[in-house]
Amino acid sequence: MTSPNPAWWTSAVVYQVYPRSFADSDGDGIGDLPGVRSKLDHLADLGVDVLWLSPVYRSPQDDNGYDISDYRDIDPAFGTLADFDGLLADAHARGIKIVMDLVVNHTSDEHPWFVESRSSTVSPKRDWYWWRDTREGPAGPEPTDWESYFSGPTWEHDPTTDQWYLHLFSRKQPDLNWENPEVRAAVHEMMGWWLDRGVDGFRMDVINMISKDVGPDDALRDGTDGFLFGPRLHEFLAEMHREVFAGRDADLITVGEMPGVTVEQARLVTDPARAELDMVFQFEHVGLDHDGDKWHARPLRLTDLKASFGRWQAGLADVGWNSLYWDNHDQPRAVSRFGDDSPAHRRDAATCLATLLHGHRGTPYVYQGEELGMANSTWGSIRDFRDIETLNHFAEATAAGADPDDVLATLRPASRDNARTPVQWDDTEHAGFTTGTPWIAVNPDHVEWNAAAQRDDPHSVLAHHRSLIALRHASRTVQLGDFEMLLPDHEDVYAYTRSLDGETLLVVCNVSGTPYALAELLPEAVGAELVLGNREHLPDHDDAVLGPWDARVLRLT
Ligand code: NOJ
Repeated sequence: MTSPNPAWWTSAVVYQVYPRSFADSDGDGIGDLPGVRSKLDHLADLGVDVLWLSPVYRSPQDDNGYDISDYRDIDPAFGTLADFDGLLADAHARGIKIVMDLVVNHTSDEHPWFVESRSSTVSPKRDWYWWRDTREGPAGPEPTDWESYFSGPTWEHDPTTDQWYLHLFSRKQPDLNWENPEVRAAVHEMMGWWLDRGVDGFRMDVINMISKDVGPDDALRDGTDGFLFGPRLHEFLAEMHREVFAGRDADLITVGEMPGVTVEQARLVTDPARAELDMVFQFEHVGLDHDGDKWHARPLRLTDLKASFGRWQAGLADVGWNSLYWDNHDQPRAVSRFGDDSPAHRRDAATCLATLLHGHRGTPYVYQGEELGMANSTWGSIRDFRDIETLNHFAEATAAGADPDDVLATLRPASRDNARTPVQWDDTEHAGFTTGTPWIAVNPDHVEWNAAAQRDDPHSVLAHHRSLIALRHASRTVQLGDFEMLLPDHEDVYAYTRSLDGETLLVVCNVSGTPYALAELLPEAVGAELVLGNREHLPDHDDAVLGPWDARVLRLT
């Protein structure tokens, strides 16, 4: 069903900037806000509508800014509030909105709220975080047996008061206690402060973890029952909407990061009638190549991807809205992971994956460098990595007796650092990212794969993204059309239609290096008008054959 007045973000494309790795203006090796500002024309040229800025707040940088010590200031590594205001003004002048990362499941342990909270059991802010006594449980003295996302227990003993505090992520990221109305009011006020400054919305970090049932419960193991979609989540989101967004939400965009979210839960959260969030990031498709956990991969089966995306498209067809992504700062590069980054296929695989994704119903997210076909990097020893999750996992696994080389072999394709190598602007020494020494090594392939080389090439990965974004802007069928999955059992070819008001578009993508005769798969595609393709300029192109990593958007009616 199509509403007569769809929200503006149903035709929008969002671009994510991870500022640390985007562009460095002052030569300290760390990307910063003036760097982002200097590259706004790249975003305008791409045609994106929204820039989501990963955290730039003041932070000890234990988790690259997802550990915030002051929500109302910019970290000196990234610049100043004046730099932020300048960026916002310049982005708005180009018609680009800015979305802030909202990290309020936890703060830094250096945030004054936590410093106060840990000072004594009778501190007025004691109850702003989760404090518990020692419990002699089956797995140790921790208050519950939960395991942190960054290895080890979720509890840290604090000698000052001989109690433990909860941290679902690193020990420098204590979890806020959202049961306390003062915490919620402080968060709402801070959000209003940023909206008053002119920002256009929020991407909400692990927002489905804010309501918790923190034991005591000896039966809990991985703990997710206790903190994913806790009992008061909908209530907290609806309250936030009332307190922060009501009356101003038509121009804003809100997207909640929700590990473990189901289609049914997402439908509730994004049902406009319930006034919670506009859309969520789900994780199902980026778990399909995990064999048990993220450190152990298995090849993606395309039929699994179809079943998953198909369910999400159907589940949010009448009510709610999808966000669409392959890459972000936590995921290895899609072209390496789900595509083929060998020289023969990299351009076609990157453009094929992009076409597959952007044709769906939902709001597409492009992660910095994805529009250039950036790939996973080459990693030598553990010293090349910077990410806390990666380093903690290596330390824990090797301490438990695993062979370091075996652990390294699992980290290389899976580490979040694959997403965090600097953006490749040109072929110079540090890819034009910095004049200094980059905080993490530039991918050596930047000599070939970079923005300067692609900007004026009509067949580049960059040009293809420009075309996909322009198509979304131009086509109501791409924005709002009904979705139907075709060939659900085919292991290599991903195909679907989008239909609206008598127009039907067919998206057909060969997610493999094996050619297929189109007439045998989809006879209706033969002779149909090509709206957008990625290989029609190549000498081996044949209308009747779907070449390796061939992707086409065809008009059937
Ligand atoms: C999810 C973020 O995307 C990730 O980068 C971060 O480490 C955790 N949340 C903790 O904030």
